[in-house]
Parts: sequence; C-alpha cells; structure tokens
Amino acid sequence: MKLIKVKNYEEMSRTAADLFLAQVKEKPASVLGLATGSSPVGLYKNLAASGADFSQVITVNLDEYCGLAPGNPQSYRYFMNENLFSNININQANTHIPDGTAANPDAEAERYEELIRSLGGIDLQLLGMGHNGHIGFNEPDEEFAADTHRVYLAEQTIKANSRFFESPEEVPTSAVTMGIKTIMQAKKIIVIASGSEKTNILKKALYGAITPRVPASVLQLHWDLTVVTDCLG
Ligand code: F6R
Repeated sequence: MKLIKVKNYEEMSRTAADLFLAQVKEKPASVLGLATGSSPVGLYKNLAASGADFSQVITVNLDEYCGLAPGNPQSYRYFMNENLFSNININQANTHIPDGTAANPDAEAERYEELIRSLGGIDLQLLGMGHNGHIGFNEPDEEFAADTHRVYLAEQTIKANSRFFESPEEVPTSAVTMGIKTIMQAKKIIVIASGSEKTNILKKALYGAITPRVPASVLQLHWDLTVVTDCLG
C-alpha cells in the first residue's frame, strides 16, 4: 500500500486528480471506476479544470440506487452528470452506471458485471469509504460479496445518506453495486478519505483484521492500492 498523507480536502482532491490525469495520459482509453458521495466532488472539479482530454475514456461507476431514474437529482447518474461528465469532453455513451430503473435488479447486476468484463476490467478504481467501512454499497456482512449484485442497505448507511433527502423514508433501501471481487480485480485502486470522522474506520480498514465485518479491510490484499487522506495526521 502507498499512503499519501495530505493536509486537507483540497490537497487530497488535487493529489488524487493528478493520479487520475497521469493514468489518462498514459492510457487515453482507460477504463476508470468512479464513485459518488462527498469525497470525490473536489477531485472531479480538478479533473474538469484540468482541460485534459477524456474523449477516449470509459467510465464505470460503483453503484446506483434501485428505483431512481437518471433524471432524479438523488440518483448517482444525475450526480455524475452534474459533477463530472457534463464538465469534461467525455463521450456520454462511454459512461456506465447500473440502471436504477431496471425492472429486474438481479439481471441488471449480471449485465453490469459482464459489461465490466467485456471492457477488459477496470484500470483505475476510485473509492470513498463509508463510516462502517463499506465500499461501493458492500456493507458489513458475514462474507465478502463477490460480483455485482443487489444489496439492501444498512440502517447506518440509510441514515448517513438521508442528508441528501428530505426524510429518511425517501432514501432508497436497495442498490446495485459492484461486488468486492469486481473492485479487487481493478488493476489499481485509489482510496480517498477526508475528515476526522473517518479516522477510526480508515485505521481499522488499513491496519485491522481483514474481515467482511469491515468490507474495506479487504483492500489490504490489493496489489496496487494508494490511499490519499488527511485523516491520519
Ligand atoms: C459512492 C459509494 C460509497 C461512498 C461512501 C463514502 O458511490 O459507493 O461507498 O464512497 O459512502 O461517501 P462519502 O464520500 O460521502 O463520505
């Protein structure tokens, strides 16, 4: 693991963006695995401001809520369009996110897993980390879920996500997410984490026991993991 300690959110965002830009420069047709949430917003701003050429880049996002259409401001598709895709010269047809409106989320999960395989896998995957150690929507569990699958969200996650909705009742209760194997097969992974409230879980994930109770702990086994964080002093 490569640990890059930074001072604050801005430095984390710049540093992580530079790693993504280096990847795209080296391989213009990179397959980038992307995340939503508050952690990557600054990184995406830096990518947009760079003026870099994303015309050949292909993206696959980690997850999407079940039941939310792309036009719903709380959907991850909407988030990605607003925060990144509309601000760079990417071909929209090359941006992939699980379809939240799919009538059969299990079939959609299978389609998405196959899509990633057909793209030759992910060159560089971005991850944020939930307060309970979730990555994507892989919640603490008895075992690591392997492939892209439908997941019912943990109470803590629904609560954390409710800040984006008017009430906790409006937060979708299930999602389609890349599985742990899907994520672990990425050639490179970058984790970003900012803020003192992430310190405990980050330490647990990076230095604690490898257990599905802390899904992010599996990242200790990845062959090319970079962590960019202001959480570890
Ligand atoms: C988002 C995702 C989640 C977030 C995690 C951290 O696509 O898959 O795992 O990365 O919940 O969220 P933030 O960055 O808002 O703290």
